[in-house]
Amino acid sequence: MGKGFYISKPLAFVLLALAVGSLLTILGLSLIYAQEKRRNEENMVNNTVTTLAPYSTSIPSNEPWDKYRLPDTLLPEYYNITLWPRLTKDDLGMYIFTGKSGVAFLCVKETDLILIHSSNLNYSLTAEKHHAELMGLGGTRAPVILKTWFQDQTEFMVIQLRENLQVGKSYWLYTEFQGELADDLGGFYRSEYVENGVEKVVATTQMQPTAARTAFPCFDEPSMKAVFHLTLIHPPGTVALANGMETGTENITIENQQVLQTRFEPTEKMSTYLLAFVISEFPSIQSPLGANKILVRIWGRREAIENGEGDYALNVTFPVLKYLESYYNTTYPLSKSDQIALPDFSAGAMENWGLVTYRETFLFYEPKVSSHEDKEGVITVISHELAHMWFGNLVTMRWWNDLWLNEGFASYVSYLAADYAEPTWNIKELMVLQQVYRAFTVDALVSSHPLSSREDAVNTPQQIEELFDAVTYSKGAAVLRMLSEFLSESVFAKGLHNYLQEHAYSNTVYTDLWKKLQEVADSDGNVHLPASIEEIMNRWILQAGFPVVTIDTHTGSISQQHFLIDPEAVVNKPSDYNYEWFVPITWMKNGRNMGQHWLLNKSTSYELMKTETNWILANLNVTGYYRVNYDSQNWERLIKQLTSDHQAIPVLNRGQIIDDAFTLARAKILNITMALRTTQYLSNEKEYIPWESAIRNLEYFFLMFDRTEVRGPLEAYLRRKVEPLFHYFKVITSNWTRKPTRHMDQYNQLNAITMACKTRVKACSELTSMWYRQWMKDPNVNPVPSDLKTVVYCNAIAAGGVEEWDFGWAMFKNSTVAAEAEKLMYGLSCTKEPWLLNRYLHYAIDPNLIRKQDVTYPIVYIASNVIGQPLAWDFFRAKWQLMTTEFRVLILGIVKTFSTEFQLQQLQRFQEEVAESGVSLGTHAIEQAIEQTKANVKWVSENKVQVMDWLIQQSA
Ligand SMILES: *[C@@H]1O[C@H](CO)[C@@H](O)[C@H](O)[C@H]1NC(C)=O
Ligand SMILES: *[C@@H]1O[C@H](CO)[C@@H](O)[C@H](O)[C@H]1NC(C)=O
Ligand SMILES: *[C@@H]1O[C@H](CO)[C@@H](O)[C@H](O)[C@H]1NC(C)=O
Ligand SMILES: *[C@@H]1O[C@H](CO)[C@@H](O)[C@H](O)[C@H]1NC(C)=O
Ligand SMILES: [Zn+2]
Repeated sequence: MGKGFYISKPLAFVLLALAVGSLLTILGLSLIYAQEKRRNEENMVNNTVTTLAPYSTSIPSNEPWDKYRLPDTLLPEYYNITLWPRLTKDDLGMYIFTGKSGVAFLCVKETDLILIHSSNLNYSLTAEKHHAELMGLGGTRAPVILKTWFQDQTEFMVIQLRENLQVGKSYWLYTEFQGELADDLGGFYRSEYVENGVEKVVATTQMQPTAARTAFPCFDEPSMKAVFHLTLIHPPGTVALANGMETGTENITIENQQVLQTRFEPTEKMSTYLLAFVISEFPSIQSPLGANKILVRIWGRREAIENGEGDYALNVTFPVLKYLESYYNTTYPLSKSDQIALPDFSAGAMENWGLVTYRETFLFYEPKVSSHEDKEGVITVISHELAHMWFGNLVTMRWWNDLWLNEGFASYVSYLAADYAEPTWNIKELMVLQQVYRAFTVDALVSSHPLSSREDAVNTPQQIEELFDAVTYSKGAAVLRMLSEFLSESVFAKGLHNYLQEHAYSNTVYTDLWKKLQEVADSDGNVHLPASIEEIMNRWILQAGFPVVTIDTHTGSISQQHFLIDPEAVVNKPSDYNYEWFVPITWMKNGRNMGQHWLLNKSTSYELMKTETNWILANLNVTGYYRVNYDSQNWERLIKQLTSDHQAIPVLNRGQIIDDAFTLARAKILNITMALRTTQYLSNEKEYIPWESAIRNLEYFFLMFDRTEVRGPLEAYLRRKVEPLFHYFKVITSNWTRKPTRHMDQYNQLNAITMACKTRVKACSELTSMWYRQWMKDPNVNPVPSDLKTVVYCNAIAAGGVEEWDFGWAMFKNSTVAAEAEKLMYGLSCTKEPWLLNRYLHYAIDPNLIRKQDVTYPIVYIASNVIGQPLAWDFFRAKWQLMTTEFRVLILGIVKTFSTEFQLQQLQRFQEEVAESGVSLGTHAIEQAIEQTKANVKWVSENKVQVMDWLIQQSA
């Protein structure tokens, strides 16, 4: 899956602030996971399965059907499946599907038991009153079925036979069943949308990780690969799609209904979680078949396709496939590549082999409305999913414990492929911000976990779901990037090719990849490693966390230490490697690249790094998965270099210096004034990555000091830093009339305007108000550049009064594009008028005005407005009983700026009030909010004076 844990951008923007402080990090992340958790909980609630026989007890038994894993007795060979989803309600008001399925399987170990996954399906009984029929294949006689029953908890259909199946013989198991086509975003489900006032229903699937068993009985584990022959029955006027190419559609009559029956070419040998089928009225666009003969089609809602929103996806898919073919040096194994955008989709996208499914925002791009960031989302998600066509689909992990390899790999390779499709964007550099830093944030907590777990530690569907997290995706990508860098990209790619060739259509564990990479590294004369790839990588994947490497230029010593953001945290999980890593240290001295040095111990001495005059910089381009600290003289020299000529330091490292310094300061490893000093040179900086690093880190300062005497000096200091940048953009955009041409400049332009308005650069508020006034004059033509809407709406509404607000509200109500509505929802929270903010708070809880799913947005946004904060807090305390389902997100969002003893007391009183009310919900969330506030109070007490003094010095 791509971007499995999705949060919308404006919310992410506000949550960014949450992801700063140490404890705050945990809270920010828990919000990110909230959606996934909800999915798990829903799955649990929906567990109402046909129960006919022995009820599973909670006492663990040793019976095979009480274990979550399939026994190693049977192997599926192929399936014949026919499914008929009804796109209208039946007499009971339900949407259902019916199906018939047969599976041919081989017996590889003697057994008198057949276990096959099945969940939430109702089966027809055979003449013998069983739920399935068994036949022998190739003249074999099948044993008689004694009984069949269902194990709800382990999601098995169990078939007890009178005699054993014979080893080496194949059998045919046949069933007929019915399931619900629910709108639960899992398994075979339905998605609804409205087109020209008419409600439409789409039947679609999301099988990963364990939902294929809710569509038909199957051996639902990734290593149980088989060939699938599929037939779909669907209403006239609809199109049926599946992994294989459709081979023909006939008109038939069943149960007195005129329907269509579409057959598909058999799939390749593949895992159940990669199956997909969709029935819809969607049209498609396709590219002409070239010499390559891969048919590329993009599907989606008629309105969107006719509006050209699929064109960008269509244009980039083919280059991305070509790039990946050459990168893996392996032909795309299928005859077609369908990609389809669904109105309701839980993950970001899903790499079903030959039929990739997407959330609309990750496949559709509308130049007039979508921002540049949206476009980048499209190309990286497409690249991620297509990278899986080989890595994941052709060769698949044996079990979910190796999911990190699958997802880390696709996340890493997606940047290479996107870079090929959009070569001018420098998108590979963004990997550092988007993956490496993201991984650093979670992985610096004691609660983090190793990338890889033991196979027997992951069993239940819930344990599998939990693996889809930031460590799996982003740390996975970060360590693979490091590996590719120290092996060289050509060795890495060649090893991959050999791995894909050897294991095509089968399953692997991660050591199979190390083996192939090692073979290539050994035969390549240029790779010199201090240990085997396995020995090096074990330290990165089998223990949680990462090191901070400290270089002392007085002594030339280099040492490493497990980095934890909370200096008081205690690690209570032992590691076989003592939290030490084999660290590839690339470095430069006074701007000269000094190559790579391996740190293999806790600490070592390296004469070349001893210097009293030169600056040393380590982890060039942040290709290594570690942070770096120096002795204070070397920090001084780096800061001096930044001030005199920052270009001597690579742009990614300018961002790294800032981010490492602030992070080390939070962990109390570095003096906070040193961190602040890394921002002094920013008045000369024009590049996005260093600015973005600074802004992310300073956001916490704004939250903490917004209402204190620090706010003034902080604002004055940053105004001086951002004014030149603001001016620079004014020039390169010809007085704000053109888009900057470079990709990163488009992002940095947003940073420039955001910071300029925040620090009250006068021209900034004039600019945003001017655009907004123009729009108010002619509501049909929005002159605000789509990349800048968030900041323009916010600042224009902040500078304006009721007229500006009411206009924004009218535009919000009239908006048909979700992304636009979200931006307005944020902008409306920026007003400085308390009565408007109060009115908006009341609108938020009126479902006629703001959709119920969005209720948290206005409230949390208002709480991040310094004037709105106390209003949101009072409002929430008065009305929290109406918002118990959103309690957690709201309380954490509202109190995120709390930083005084008085606020802490208020929060504690509120906790008592909630406890007295008897509503049990959310007490844990309040505890977290209290912890967060305590951490803030502590941080402020430890840092406020120093920060204030330093800022005052700067203006002297
Ligand atoms: C760092 O990345 C830049 C491009 O972003 C590249 O030109 C440069 O060669 C890289 N430096 C090293 C030492 O890898
Ligand atoms: C941090 O550095 C400043 C200025 O160099 C100094 O005044 C202060 O005492 C230092 N703080 C700590 C905790 O060492
Ligand atoms: C820039 O645009 C503003 C608003 O349209 C205008 O008032 C100003 O004169 C322009 N400045 C320059 C240098 O063109
Ligand atoms: C509201 O939306 C409709 C259709 O999208 C459009 O025709 C109309 O002009 C909009 N109204 C305003 C005031 O912008
Ligand atoms: Zn993925």
